[in-house]
Amino acid sequence: MKIIQPGIILASLLFTVVTTASSVYAQSAPQTLYQALGSESGISQIVDEAVTIILQDERIKASFKETNIPRLAQLLKEQFCVISAGPCKYTGDDMKTVHQGLGINAAQFYALAEDVQIAMDKLAIPSATQNRLMALLAPMKRDIVFPKPKQ
Ligand code: HEM
Repeated sequence: MKIIQPGIILASLLFTVVTTASSVYAQSAPQTLYQALGSESGISQIVDEAVTIILQDERIKASFKETNIPRLAQLLKEQFCVISAGPCKYTGDDMKTVHQGLGINAAQFYALAEDVQIAMDKLAIPSATQNRLMALLAPMKRDIVFPKPKQ
């Protein structure tokens, strides 16, 4: 009968533990929102899709009549990249400066947010990931929607 060396058993046990642990770690390693959205190309597709939907949305499309759309899309891509912890730089103006004076109301804000969600649905982004992006967009409402001045 062949005697198996205890050293070999120990080594193979150790190998199993290490490989299992590393694969469990790989599965549970936290993913940045940027990665979950599909990095640069994923965000680019989401924004392009969202802009297409926004420009057909009767609730808000009139607001973009005079907007340079390719520039807006580029800035939205940069912004989504930055807020999702991606390696980008946002080169646009801050939300307050940009939207002040445009007279945007809450319903229009929610309409745009909904369009971004529809775009993500189309691209099969999981709802947990969608919610992570929505949670970052929601607080921007205070810089985009302004109360009507008192008469
Ligand atoms: C979460 C919601 C929103 C986000 C994240 C967002 C983001 C942005 C960004 C990044 C820009 C470009 C900034 C720049 O030109 O430097 C922009 C511009 C603009 N946004 Fe929004 N926006 C939001 C909601 C809205 C809504 C609800 C409307 C109107 C219905 C709107 C209308 C506009 C217009 C018209 C411009 C172009 C302004 C210009 O070129 O002078 N935005 N937005």
